[in-house]
Amino acid sequence: MSQLKQMSHIDSAPPTPGKFKMDKASYFNRVRWHTSLAKLAVWSFVFLGAILIFFLRSPASSPVPADLSRRSLRTYSWGGPVWEKRVRASAQVRSRNGFAVLVTGAAGFVGTHVSAALKRRGDGVLGLDNFNDYYDPSLKRARQGLLERNGVYIVEGDINDEALLRKLFEVVPFTHVMHLAAQAGVRYAMENPGSYVHSNIAGFVNLLEVCKSVNPQPAIVWASSSSVYGLNTKVPFSERDRTDQPASLYAATKKAGEEIAHTYNHIYGLSLTGLRFFTVYGPWGRPDMAYFFFTRDLLKGKPIPIFEAANHGTVARDFTYIDDIVRGCLGALDTAEKSTGSGGKKRGPAQLRVFNLGNTSPVPVSDLVSILERLLKVKAKRNIMKLPRNGDVQFTHANISYAQSELGYKPTTDLQSGLKKFVRWYLNYYSGGKKAVE
Ligand SMILES: NC(=O)c1ccc[n+]([C@@H]2O[C@H](COP(=O)([O-])OP(=O)(O)OC[C@H]3O[C@@H](n4cnc5c(N)ncnc54)[C@H](O)[C@@H]3O)[C@@H](O)[C@H]2O)c1
Repeated sequence: MSQLKQMSHIDSAPPTPGKFKMDKASYFNRVRWHTSLAKLAVWSFVFLGAILIFFLRSPASSPVPADLSRRSLRTYSWGGPVWEKRVRASAQVRSRNGFAVLVTGAAGFVGTHVSAALKRRGDGVLGLDNFNDYYDPSLKRARQGLLERNGVYIVEGDINDEALLRKLFEVVPFTHVMHLAAQAGVRYAMENPGSYVHSNIAGFVNLLEVCKSVNPQPAIVWASSSSVYGLNTKVPFSERDRTDQPASLYAATKKAGEEIAHTYNHIYGLSLTGLRFFTVYGPWGRPDMAYFFFTRDLLKGKPIPIFEAANHGTVARDFTYIDDIVRGCLGALDTAEKSTGSGGKKRGPAQLRVFNLGNTSPVPVSDLVSILERLLKVKAKRNIMKLPRNGDVQFTHANISYAQSELGYKPTTDLQSGLKKFVRWYLNYYSGGKKAVE
């Protein structure tokens, strides 16, 4: 109070005595005014300080366009010495001539299996995944747990986050990238088209931009899809067949990916291998795929929709077991040549390949249901429906001779044996204890 008095004395002293006389009310108003100003200044400092601390503590975040789905609007924190140590340990190569591989989409179905297989043989593996909720994220978390127990760390982040990707390459000079992160699923593209553009096009370009500029450039193996064959009617599908009639936005983004790969190979000398997977199934699979939700619905006694094409045409798929796909992925990594560019410039021609990875024996979807009925010992309520025109094609059938000769790819699991393994996993996983079958 006495301090206030002193201050008020100084403040109220008229510069020209006699000219200015302050009454009691204005005196208190001024005091209040100054006190509020002081408070405002203090709170502004606190607020600015908090913002400063926030930016200093969080090394980077991934800005995502606002028009994307809510699940994409997330930021992730990464960085710091403990984090870097974890990244390095996970990517540590343990076998002679082993690779250091960055696996994008590592918490996904294929990514988990490929990461585990690479780690098992002594390669260094670091995962990257944004854990989006396109399907139950708890399944992705369970896969993450499985990989963690096997020494693979999954960094939580988006392939669109350039700063994060650059940091990862700064910490580990990856020799290879196994790029599996994508917005999968054919039908969902009608609901959320932006997510396909975000992950399968923008994300892929961002990844390639970083890969082309790092030194040494990694070799890249990435997942395209059998869906690029679209409305092609020539069977079995060969890599030389036309792929310019996609039947879904998903297929179109995968086809775009193949063209983008061509560009980065041509301009920057990146070694790029695209793998066209044909309906992959197996333990730890994707809940949005028919074999998975048929199993769930059969056990619940719900009707199973079975599509048929015009004139009662059979809908069939070249179902490929996950272990066969994993062998194909490893074969592609093992035969991938080094990228030829450096400092963002091409120094010579680089490898560019595309392979079918299928099973070469399409099975009608109704037969898939019969196998599941036998394995689960339940009778299906079949609901025959016309194949809607929302992205699905009538059949897929892979010619795999190119992968056979170049990658030594030879699928060995038929649908009956593969589904048996899937059902065993499914029953165990959803038995309540959520125990992992390894
Ligand atoms: N499973 C199949 O039958 C099949 C068939 C053809 C092609 N493919 C392709 O194979 C790859 C793997 O498929 P899957 O079945 O394992 O799918 P999945 O959805 O289980 O795995 C993809 C993973 O990528 C992650 N992801 C998506 N967008 C991301 C982003 N922007 N940044 C970081 N992570 C992101 C997801 O969270 C997910 O965990 C995909 O590219 C898919 O298109 C799969």
